[in-house]
Amino acid sequence: MIRLKRTHYCGDLNLNNLDQQVIVTGWVQKRRDLGGLIFINLRDRSGIIQTVVNKDVTEDLFNEAQKVRSEFVVAIKGEVVKRAENAINPKMATGSIELAVSDMQIISKAETTPIYIEDDLDASEPLRLKYRYLDLRRPCMQKILFTRHKTAKVVRDYMDQNGFIEVETPMLTKTTPEGARDYLVPSRVQPGSFFALPQSPQLFKQILMVSGFDRYFQIVKCFRDEDLRADRQPEFTQIDLEMSFVDCDDVMAINEGLMKHVFKQILNVEIQLPLKRLTYKEAMERYGSDKPDTRFGLELRDIGNALANSEFKVFSDTLANGGIIKAINAQGLGEKLSRKEIDSLGEFVKTYKAKGLAWINITAEGIKSPIAKFLKEEELNGIIESVGGKIGDIIFIVSDKAKVVYDALGQLRLELARRFELIDKSRYDLLWVTEFPLLDFDEEDNRYVAMHHPFTSPMDEDIALLDTDPLKVRAKAYDIVLNGYELGGGSIRIHNQELQEKMFGMLGFSHEQAWSKFGFLLEAFKYGTPPHGGLAFGLDRLVMLLTGTDNIRDVIAFPKTQTASCLMTNAPSPAEEKQLQELHIKLQLD
Ligand code: AMO
Ligand code: AMP
Repeated sequence: MIRLKRTHYCGDLNLNNLDQQVIVTGWVQKRRDLGGLIFINLRDRSGIIQTVVNKDVTEDLFNEAQKVRSEFVVAIKGEVVKRAENAINPKMATGSIELAVSDMQIISKAETTPIYIEDDLDASEPLRLKYRYLDLRRPCMQKILFTRHKTAKVVRDYMDQNGFIEVETPMLTKTTPEGARDYLVPSRVQPGSFFALPQSPQLFKQILMVSGFDRYFQIVKCFRDEDLRADRQPEFTQIDLEMSFVDCDDVMAINEGLMKHVFKQILNVEIQLPLKRLTYKEAMERYGSDKPDTRFGLELRDIGNALANSEFKVFSDTLANGGIIKAINAQGLGEKLSRKEIDSLGEFVKTYKAKGLAWINITAEGIKSPIAKFLKEEELNGIIESVGGKIGDIIFIVSDKAKVVYDALGQLRLELARRFELIDKSRYDLLWVTEFPLLDFDEEDNRYVAMHHPFTSPMDEDIALLDTDPLKVRAKAYDIVLNGYELGGGSIRIHNQELQEKMFGMLGFSHEQAWSKFGFLLEAFKYGTPPHGGLAFGLDRLVMLLTGTDNIRDVIAFPKTQTASCLMTNAPSPAEEKQLQELHIKLQLD
């Protein structure tokens, strides 16, 4: 039985509660024994309150208070009193009051915890993940999950107000077309057959459009077996939506409205609409990335013109082979970078497959550059002019095939911004990247692959190029980018059977393969399909950006590690022999 029933949350108490008798419950943050007085700081999800047990109240009470240790669960009754002037703690939200304790109960004891329950904790992440329930007691973690909850709520409000209905789609399903590996679930009743966990609800939401729901959304778990990074989890959550009778602009308008609503409600930040749009081509050319962080400059510039007749092999070979030469002018950084640091940047770009990093340091004493001796004076001047170089600047150059140049310089740009703290952290640069290529060429498999997924529509004016120059075909696809993160992506879908068949053909699926994978969707399309399109946001990424963390695990209550395991439950783990037998599964581990 609960003897002392809570009347207030700790953090909700303030000067308005003066002289009231209240009961608070929670975990002991800290106990200090000053002889005749014992201070117990009590924590619950709302905050911390200081309570004071005075020896003079009763001996039993004082004895009980002496037994209390950190993280014990206790209930405390007391009167809200003002702290003495010199005892006021401006760092605590409840720092001007305390509870004069009249009764208390130890509800449950706690062993010494393996990690401190404090915001500025230096425990390793594996330890935090093993004891996730303790890690989640920390106020900063609780705050993130509250923000996550509120984000989901305001998303639902907005979607509802705009006529979207939330429909659940199956978790045990067939493979979906997002291009990662599937997590498979064996069927016991159909030996040898497997479900796939959905990589997204893509096919089901398109079918819901065929069913006439017109506007669907869902906050939904998705599963992808892929290489994990700081912003990727094997199981993550999407805000997924689909709309009928729309074109790109309609989908973009709804979604930027959603972001405006979320930022206003969660951070009280005004996002100006319409959002800026960059084409994929422009994003790659200026930032070397299809998810550019536009909070700082350091843009890429093409310097191929200045080097068209260069005899320096590094440049002439690239141009002869159809590659490109691009440069970043790091304004004012010339003197700030030591030779050693410049060399380390050279090593840095090599991790992105660049063969080297040429540089030109424009100093008051003249040009310093390891490539100056290979270039004619007009070439050197041409480069400097192309990027607007001035004394104090240092120009970085990569020459290679476009993909390598974009990747290396795009990453160098971010690295310089990090090292020199060029990013204004208070900014939220939300933008659209549009006109993605429809197809990419997979050199390993020697075939075209869908850049987004096989149901994405080409732009009408580019359809003819499918036969002549497929890599030039642009898609009706758009990504929404925030501060260098891909927050969401979507497209207008193909709703024309012939075009869909053609697309499958381009991707190297035979008619039979296409039907065996996606037949149910193709069948559905036979019976009256509205034009439709949609988008999905990564909710985890959105919450990361709203809460200012760069670690996706911080915004997920029970996340997985880089090796896709859960350190708290030890999942995944071997199955019992009996379970495997029931599933007709034999292991071959070698
Ligand atoms: P896409 O594959 O671009 O599109 O995914 C949409 C968004 O989901 C987030 N995301 C992830 N977040 C965390 N961990 C992951 N492993 C992960 N993978 C993706 C990203 C991404 O922008 N069905 C299409 C959407 C559509 O066309 O409507 C889809 O899933 O923020
Ligand atoms: P090398 O002649 O290979 O010693 O290169 C001379 C200079 O050019 C060095 O500073 C290299 O870092 C640089 N360099 C080499 N390859 C490239 C490249 N692909 N792009 C830009 N700079 C390069």
